[in-house]
Amino acid sequence: MLPFLSITAAAFGLYASGAALSPRPSAFTFSAEGTGLQLGGPNLAPEIRVAPNDFPGVIRAANDLAVDFGKVLGVNATIVVANWSSTISSKSSSRPIIVVGTAGKSSLVDNLVSLKKLDTTAVANKWETFSYQVTQRPWDGRDSIFVIAGSDLQGTVFGIYDIAEQIGVSPWYWWADVPPAKRQYIWAVDAARTEGPPSIKYRGIFLNDESPCLTSWGHSTFKDSKYGSPFITDFYKRIFELVLRLKGNYVWPAMWSSMFYLDDANNAPTATEYGIFMGTSHHEPMARADKEQNRFLKGSWDWKGNKAGVQSFMEEGATRSKNWSTMYTLGMRGSGDAASSTLTSSALEEVISWQQSTLTKALGKPLSQIPQAWVMYKEVPGYWQKGMKVSDDVTLLWSDDNRGNIRRVPTGKENARSGGSGMYYHFDYVGDPRNYKWINTIQLQKTWEQMTLAHDRGVQNIWIANVGDLKGLELPTAHFMALAWNRDSFENPSSTTDWLKAWCGRQFGEAAGDVAASIMTTYGKLIARMKYEDLSRTPFAFNTVNYDEAELNFKEWTDLLAKAQAVYDALPAATQISFFEVVLHPVLAGRGVYEIYTKTALGIRYADQHRVSANQLANDVQTAFAADSTITKRFHGLLNGKWNHMMDQLHIGYNNWQDPSSQTIPRQTYVTTAAKNAVMGVAVQGSTASFPTASSLMLPPLNSFLPPGTQPWIDVFARDNGTFTYTITSNASFVTLANPKQTIVAPGSSSDIRSIVVVDWNTAPSGSSTVSLKISDGSASATVLVPIQNSAVPSDFKGHVESTGVVSIEAEHFNSAATSKEYVIVPDYGRTLSGVRLPTKSDSQAPAKGPVLAYSFYTFSNAASATLTFYLSPSENANPNSPNRYTFTMDGGAATTVQPVPLGDAGNEPAGWSDAVIKNAYVKTSNLGRLAPGKHELKIWLLEPTMVLTKLVVDVGGLKSSLLGPPESKIVG
Ligand SMILES: *[C@@H]1O[C@H](CO)[C@@H](O)[C@H](O)[C@H]1NC(C)=O
Ligand SMILES: *[C@@H]1O[C@H](CO)[C@@H](O)[C@H](O)[C@H]1NC(C)=O
Ligand SMILES: *[C@@H]1O[C@H](CO)[C@@H](O)[C@H](O)[C@H]1NC(C)=O
Repeated sequence: MLPFLSITAAAFGLYASGAALSPRPSAFTFSAEGTGLQLGGPNLAPEIRVAPNDFPGVIRAANDLAVDFGKVLGVNATIVVANWSSTISSKSSSRPIIVVGTAGKSSLVDNLVSLKKLDTTAVANKWETFSYQVTQRPWDGRDSIFVIAGSDLQGTVFGIYDIAEQIGVSPWYWWADVPPAKRQYIWAVDAARTEGPPSIKYRGIFLNDESPCLTSWGHSTFKDSKYGSPFITDFYKRIFELVLRLKGNYVWPAMWSSMFYLDDANNAPTATEYGIFMGTSHHEPMARADKEQNRFLKGSWDWKGNKAGVQSFMEEGATRSKNWSTMYTLGMRGSGDAASSTLTSSALEEVISWQQSTLTKALGKPLSQIPQAWVMYKEVPGYWQKGMKVSDDVTLLWSDDNRGNIRRVPTGKENARSGGSGMYYHFDYVGDPRNYKWINTIQLQKTWEQMTLAHDRGVQNIWIANVGDLKGLELPTAHFMALAWNRDSFENPSSTTDWLKAWCGRQFGEAAGDVAASIMTTYGKLIARMKYEDLSRTPFAFNTVNYDEAELNFKEWTDLLAKAQAVYDALPAATQISFFEVVLHPVLAGRGVYEIYTKTALGIRYADQHRVSANQLANDVQTAFAADSTITKRFHGLLNGKWNHMMDQLHIGYNNWQDPSSQTIPRQTYVTTAAKNAVMGVAVQGSTASFPTASSLMLPPLNSFLPPGTQPWIDVFARDNGTFTYTITSNASFVTLANPKQTIVAPGSSSDIRSIVVVDWNTAPSGSSTVSLKISDGSASATVLVPIQNSAVPSDFKGHVESTGVVSIEAEHFNSAATSKEYVIVPDYGRTLSGVRLPTKSDSQAPAKGPVLAYSFYTFSNAASATLTFYLSPSENANPNSPNRYTFTMDGGAATTVQPVPLGDAGNEPAGWSDAVIKNAYVKTSNLGRLAPGKHELKIWLLEPTMVLTKLVVDVGGLKSSLLGPPESKIVG
């Protein structure tokens, strides 16, 4: 069938069954008493034998493995490059032997095969596959050896690096300073293991948006090229090694102000030797950097106006690279990565067919043997959608919306093209609505959801992730590469959590693995709510009044920081550095930015109420703003400045898509204080009003079904410096306050005191009543009214119950008896709890026919015009023939079908896109009309597997605005 399907054909059966795959068992043990073959011990390291006729890249990687053994054991392995005869003639070696080689190339491996000591059928003629095993009695006098056999250069190299990782050398040992494990013993378990072929044929990273950080760091770390770029071969060796250790094979080089092929004449040959296919970014066709245009292109970058000049420029790219491993980018955009006003579809057809004939001529190979990609980025898919013809040899490299939402999956005949499909995906971006190029803002569950969708819909030839400066994006990069290598091991929706635990265990030690994983899972959720650069929008996105949203959100950051700091404090010093880089730094620095914007927004409200503490909030913002630079300096000071400049990116004070030229603190609001003896102020939850401006305040209505964790409160505060004592009295015995008498001292930490209102529902009268609280400082007194609704639900009711006029439901809390088993819960997906979706391979569903989600809820309000709001992932209509839609019915009534995202034209983002990606959600509201009090059943059909439902809110008269929607209602039964 399709060549790209044959690679993973075996895999299809596996995950179609839906079986959860267990994590792979370790191939090594590390205690003194092991079984199998001993590879290391005190003062004992193996001898690694490689055939001289193997790929130089294999010999190079074998040398890395020798040193990796040294890092773990304290004594390096040795490398012997020798043919079979000399190998066996040194059989007297008392050291353990590892033979490494490429099947069909290595004279060592092939000899073992011909002697029937080794079976390489599992790897032979495969793409990037390896196996390793303990081989018994390979020759006389030798009981057993360890053999790593690869199918090709990359396969063998991946086998080598797989061993390195398993004995305890992280792929991130250099890029994230992960200390190697220290072991006294290493035993190879006597069991054969095969891995590969990879799920995705070409998979790798794009270094992009690389100024200021990567570039300034590069200048201070490497020698500049004659063109002034620091991205010379010494730099790329580090990148290539990392990519190979992550089992990747593909790189798009930095290109903002560098020219990969010219900055160092060794760059491209080194990539080829290592086993890396070099590409160029979406708008740099024919293996020539954008920056080469300025220097070498004769005339303008204009196919119509300067065909001869453009052609000779492109032709040279093909000729120059003919001996190197290259994935050719085809097509063309306008000059400087912008849409071209003169390129029509027919001109673009001509460009690509000319590029293809030039490639066959220059490389002397048929097109089917030349990797080529046409990047369907920004406006480009519009040409394709209009019916442009492009040869089937070309991979259609689809893209996301720069915010992690796949714009398109291949459909119908597109999946039968021999070149297959690819995906260009972003973990970093420069552009609308705002850049995000500072630190990690990626939720791994979302990457999982989108990229498994891509894979399962046929996007299996290329995956390339824009990883910005790389530093700071270690975790999303590692996760992306793991998915691309073995999508099958990510079948289970909780597989990302399992992977993260294992990954953190390998980087930070077993003891810290699970807690580090839970920290990064929470981090992913908090940052899914809003990227740092979007926080400066006004009004502040998190509501400072309703549902205590801004406050509670910031408290989650503070709790997370405490947890991360505690893990850090308990780690060995060597591990603290990597933990800081990957976990503590984003939590600490990220919380700082949230503090600045949260307290600025709260400060505006506090100042309105004339709280003395508004000034403290402003001071906290100043402190957090200053701390931000200190945190950056701390990062830059690690390991004597190894990562100097890597956090140079400005990130506070955005006011348009482009990053600001300096960090600016948001304007703070102060109150002027008179030296009176503290005037009492009072405020209540859910209201901007305050005493004494208003003499009487009202809390939101209370019933016994408040969302768990919700606490109605009253704040008493000082409006001026000084001190006073207040008392709160209630006119009803069933409403009390935790601390009814307190002393306010302003300024200081007790210039505001919060009192929680407690209702005894057993003694409260049934039905509606209003309790009055009196807050008095001896001279003035405020009244706070507490509306009470003491109602019960039928004892057999199971489901969510209304409070404060809303029912809020997390999507995963469906009525499981009435919900179809097809639905998949994606734990930790999205902004609040999780997501629910159809399996990626599901067909489109007809309204109100296929798998159904059912929710039971109970209301008390008699709502004349209720509404139902869906909170959905910001997923795009990835299948243009079948846009995302859902259907719902309320209490068995008429079915309503909604398409949350309009169908734009293929070259542009749909209307509403910007708002959706800022909030990371599509929020769609439908009118329900009258909704009588009582029990209700909501049924929902998600009609497409390309969308995720996260939350539902029914408004029966009390809904207040917020970013995330009200907290989840209480569930009974
Ligand atoms: C192992 O070899 C590397 C590279 O030659 C060297 O830097 C290192 O010191 C050696 N390690 C040991 C333990 O001898
Ligand atoms: C290995 O064998 C090949 C041919 O079999 C020979 O050309 C080469 O010189 C030998 N290399 C070594 C290091 O013995
Ligand atoms: C109130 O206290 C603050 C902080 O100590 C002080 O700066 C300010 O001058 C005081 N206001 C008056 C009117 O004394």
